[in-house]
Parts: sequence; structure tokens; C-alpha cells
Amino acid sequence: MATDSSAATAAASSSAAIRLEHVSKRFPGASTDAVADLSLEVRQGEVTVFVGPSGCGKTTTLKMINRLEEPTSGHIEIFGRDQAATPAHELRRQIGYVIQETGLFPHRTIAENIATVPHLLGWPKARIRDRVQELAELVGLEREQLERYPASLSGGQRQRAGVARALAADPPILLMDEPFGAVDPIVRTRLQDELLALQQRLHKTIVFVTHDIEEATKLGDRVAVLDVGGILAQYAPPAELLREPANAFVEEFLGRERGLRELSLIPVSDVPLERRCELSPGASCEEALAAMDRAGADWALVIEDDRCAGWVDRKRIAEAVPNVSAAAVPLARWIGPNSNLREALEVALTSHTRVAIVQDGERYLGVLPIERIAQRLEA
Ligand SMILES: Nc1ncnc2c1ncn2[C@@H]1O[C@H](COP(=O)(O)OP(=O)(O)OP(=O)(O)O)[C@@H](O)[C@H]1O
Ligand SMILES: [Mg+2]
Repeated sequence: MATDSSAATAAASSSAAIRLEHVSKRFPGASTDAVADLSLEVRQGEVTVFVGPSGCGKTTTLKMINRLEEPTSGHIEIFGRDQAATPAHELRRQIGYVIQETGLFPHRTIAENIATVPHLLGWPKARIRDRVQELAELVGLEREQLERYPASLSGGQRQRAGVARALAADPPILLMDEPFGAVDPIVRTRLQDELLALQQRLHKTIVFVTHDIEEATKLGDRVAVLDVGGILAQYAPPAELLREPANAFVEEFLGRERGLRELSLIPVSDVPLERRCELSPGASCEEALAAMDRAGADWALVIEDDRCAGWVDRKRIAEAVPNVSAAAVPLARWIGPNSNLREALEVALTSHTRVAIVQDGERYLGVLPIERIAQRLEA
């Protein structure tokens, strides 16, 4: 893993959108560095997350990328070009910036806020108006909200406006500084999902800052864990980070639910499913019990034409019904092949059969037992 600068440099390739080389920042009068000898590459089209405790230099690093702060030493390249030699108006076109706490101008309407960069770039009025409406639609803001002032919007709506403003001139790079920090957990989850969906369509190079490791592993293609003093502790894809924390700091930062988080990164489709005892709806109770005996099972699924009509157990079959179809209990919960293993585990734990049933729409695919989920973690 590229935790040292030589590895990061060795991995340099044309796919790098941003390269930091031995970048340090010490503010005037400070006795320590805010950012210390930071070297890493942000790959084009990926979401790279900077995560770390408060004061570890995340905002300072974003500001240096955007040249709102100058590094004390070191070198930054944007698309292979020395950033210090790039004119400001060009940087503005290349980089959209979602400021911590949204940073919307309070005395400008949402539409005026979103239009900030196009306005600076001197776009004609009609083009700006069209772009603002297009962006409102893209991020999910109502037209009526565009004429309002930031204070009259909800936290989530303000965040959407901040994202729209950063996207206004369609920059290839988006810097997002704790964009979802100030909203409640439900809105936050929704905004994260919206960002992932947006990224599927736009393929931007995104540098996303957060102090929330859960958010980092959910959104990041790659996660840089920073320690206080802007020291890079580890830079790796989320699964690798969770599996092999580089040191005690990273391990502690990842927290106790590391295993569960790792599970949430693995899709159900990555794990072979099992077929357990299956009965046809017309099977008599005797046939059902015999089949369960042979399988060593105390429950079975009733399957016909790839569809699961429900489950039965010995007790229900013993209640003198004509066939298993009459005894079948419809499934209360199942998961799809695009679910992840954390969701599968949750379903398996709350089911008395201790398996998660997997269906693609109405088509029955198999079951995922708890043990198999646990094995995947040990693999
Ligand atoms: N303009 C400044 N002048 C002096 N010191 C600064 C300045 N800006 C930031 N610092 C210091 O640099 C360090 C890193 O700050 P920075 O804002 O980059 O942290 P952060 O990781 O973004 O923290 P948070 O998660 O709280 O936003 C801190 O110790 C901070 O006090
Ligand atoms: Mg910050």
C-alpha cells in the first residue's frame, strides 16, 4: 500500500488528476506543521476521501489544492501541470469547491449563489439561467427554492445548493469539505446516496473530506487517513483499510465495528449461495418430513418454478394440513443480489432460520447462512 512517498511516486501514472509531492504547510507563528510532507495521487474519476480527526490538516490540504493557501514547501500538480503556474481563472474552471458549512453567501439567493463561478467567468445571462435550472434539477432543488435566501432553506437543501454551486462551471475536479457534516443522519445518508448516484453519471474526480470513517468507507474509492500534523497514516481502498490497518492509529480510528463495515463493502453476489432443503408445494406432509429428515433440517422452503412460496417447519407440518403449500408461511424478509453482506447478516440474525434468503425480484436464488457470511470475513 502506498503509505510512503516513494510508493506513491512510483505509482504515478497518467490517471492521476492531482499529485501532491512532499507538500508541507506551517502557518506563520505555529510551532508544528498543519500538513507534513504529504505525498499522494488522486486518481481521475475516483472519489478520494481524506479522513482524520479535527485539526489534522484536511481543510488546509483542500485549500492548497485550490490555491487558497500556498504550501510552505512541496509541489502540487493538476492534470500533470504545475498548479502554482496555472492561472487562477483556469483553476476555477477546473476545480469546484464545496466549502465546510456550505459557505453560501447569505445575502444572495440560491440561484445567485449557484451562479457564482459562471458569473465570474463572464457567461451570458441566458446561459447562466439555463445552467442554474439544469443544476437545480440535477441536485434535487425545487425551482421555487432558487429565489430564496440560504437561511430559509433546510440544512439538506443548503448542502444541495453548495454542491450545485461547485458543479456550476462543470469542473472535472470537485473538492468537498465535510459537505454533509451539519445535517441529521437520515438526511446525511440520503445526500451520500445522491452523491454516489450523481458520480455514476458525472465521473468527476472528487476529493471528499470528512471526520466520519463510516462516510469515508461508504463513499471513497480510496481513503487517505490523516493523523494530527497532517501526517498520512494510510492510503488505500476501503476494503484494504478495514482488512489491514497500517498501524495502531488507523486501527483505533476505524473503531470497533471494523468487521461489520468490511461486510458492508462486500456484495452478496460475491459469495456462493447455498440451496437448502426445498419442497414442492404439492408435497404431502409425510413426504416433507421425510425430505427434512434426509437433509437433517428442521425447516424447508417451498419452491415452485424458481419462486419461493414461503417456509415451513416441522411444527407447522404436524398441524395436520393436506400438503406443505397449506402450511407455508410467506417470507417476511429477503435480500437482493445487490445487497451487501452486512444487510445479509442483519436479515439472517433476525430470522429464526439463521439464513438470509436471496431473491432477484421474485426469482429465488438461494440462501446465505450466517456461518458463510462469517467465513467470508476470515477468507
Ligand atoms: N489560517 C490559519 N492560521 C493558523 N493556523 C491555522 C490556519 N488554518 C488552520 N490552522 C491550523 O492548522 C491545523 C489544521 O487545520 P485544518 O483546518 O486544516 O484542520 P481540519 O482537519 O480541517 O479540521 P476540522 O476537522 O476541524 O475541520 C489546525 O491546527 C489549525 O488550527
Ligand atoms: Mg476542516
